[in-house]
Amino acid sequence: MISKQLRKKRIALPLILTGTLLLSACAANSQPMDHQGHDMANMSQAPQQATEPKTMSAAIDSAMEVLTGNTFTLTAKESMLHLDDNTMKTAWTYNGTVPGPQLRVKQGETVKILLQNQLPEPVTIHWHGLPVPNNMDGIPGVTQNAVKPGESFTYQFKVDVPGTYWYHSHQNGVVQVDKGLYGSLVVEPKEQQSVDKDFTLVVDEWLKDDSMAGMSHGGGHAGMSMSTTTSDHSSMMYSNSSEMPMSDAEMMPLMYTIFSANGKTGSAITPLMIKQGEKVRIRLINAGFLSHRLYLQGHEYKIVSTDGQPINNPPLVSGQLLNIAPGERYDIEFVANNPGSWLLEERSSNPGATSLTVPILYEGYEATKPKAEKGDLPLIDMTKYGEAAKSDFSLDDSYDIEYTMDLNTEMKSGEMTFTINGKTYPDTPPLQVKKGDLVKVKLVNKSPKDLHPMHLHGHFFQVLSKNGQPVSGSPLVKDTLNLLPGEEFVVAFIADNPGEWMFHCHDLGHAAQGMMSEVKYEGFQRDFVVDPTVNNKPE
Ligand code: C2O
Ligand code: CU
Repeated sequence: MISKQLRKKRIALPLILTGTLLLSACAANSQPMDHQGHDMANMSQAPQQATEPKTMSAAIDSAMEVLTGNTFTLTAKESMLHLDDNTMKTAWTYNGTVPGPQLRVKQGETVKILLQNQLPEPVTIHWHGLPVPNNMDGIPGVTQNAVKPGESFTYQFKVDVPGTYWYHSHQNGVVQVDKGLYGSLVVEPKEQQSVDKDFTLVVDEWLKDDSMAGMSHGGGHAGMSMSTTTSDHSSMMYSNSSEMPMSDAEMMPLMYTIFSANGKTGSAITPLMIKQGEKVRIRLINAGFLSHRLYLQGHEYKIVSTDGQPINNPPLVSGQLLNIAPGERYDIEFVANNPGSWLLEERSSNPGATSLTVPILYEGYEATKPKAEKGDLPLIDMTKYGEAAKSDFSLDDSYDIEYTMDLNTEMKSGEMTFTINGKTYPDTPPLQVKKGDLVKVKLVNKSPKDLHPMHLHGHFFQVLSKNGQPVSGSPLVKDTLNLLPGEEFVVAFIADNPGEWMFHCHDLGHAAQGMMSEVKYEGFQRDFVVDPTVNNKPE
């Protein structure tokens, strides 16, 4: 598997210190890159101005910059986010935008990122999905002290594995990531694949009513069910059919009703401009708390990778929905062979779904009014997608260690908690491993309604089975795996990256309410001392 091979293949490349910094001040939310990796922002600027002149002024606040090279500065600071002309949020950002700039780096390079904190709270950066050394993983109180207001920290690591990743604060993530402290990270492969357009869409959700911030997720949930008389939103806490309090899974989509792509919602979302005949890649990243069911109009497409890892021989998809869970990434590719004005749309039944429609516009065509299609379509099952191939792990292998993680939703002294084997972090038992161990983990979602996108830091794992059925499609290698209620998955990985690694639900509200564990290597020593004056919050 990837992780094994890459350990052997590490090649030291000389630092290229002359990296260029490409700042595009234009309004393109989705910067196309040509196949040589050049920023095409300036080329795409003109048509976007022509088609969407009125979003230009507002869009400056959320333009996605693309930074290339190997030395970066990310400044955490407050900024106004214009989701559309009428909807503004006070956001927490890296470099003033949501998402933060895209860091576009080359496989094999050593990159250096200076984090400066201008926010009133401590922050970090976690490089979601990238296997970095443990002390670069950005976990407050576990791999470093969170960076205090006014202070800075330098992250430095070699990027070995090409693909689509993202970065976000790991300090009090349920608040900080929710406020916008995230961005995308693309590791370009050594051998450049040829696509003509390379877009990135980071999806997220926002509260319609910011006063509900404290009520979101488990904490607010228990609070809400105890404050029915004082809450304006009491009608939301009980489902019509019964007196049972609503589950987190039912309540969140009713609170988070503004969906965004690259920091824009609804008609403010910048169209992806394409030309007939082009090969188009869209890198989808979910930075939010909700799953999104995406549908591409007018084109069949291939899912070429998930969580940065390639899919073997992916077939064309049509008439199905691609579900992207919190923390997951999917790279899709299609050939622009159907000129016109199309949408990539959200087709879940969540109230916010209609606000996530990304226009896909052929040059020379008028943007027509979004014509969202309706109707239920089957979901793509990634465990059956693509073609089987030789892989690193199988169900028949013998493993050094086997763990089971039962994921559940439990009331504990009047609080909604999300548990692993009945415990909440930091009382969850860690997975103890030794370097070189082959580890098999069975994940079981016992929550009646909540889904749990489980994310392992520092490693990729291979998905071996779902509900007892071996994966029959492409070997499926991921860092974030979504479990619906009742589902059971078996995954395997090699313990090849010593440290203390978080293994948690990427519904960050669930993580904050307990659903977090650690993979701990025997004999590993931290290289820092916890500073008690920093209010480290590792979730
Ligand atoms: Cu996306 Cu523990 O993180
Ligand atoms: Cu969860």
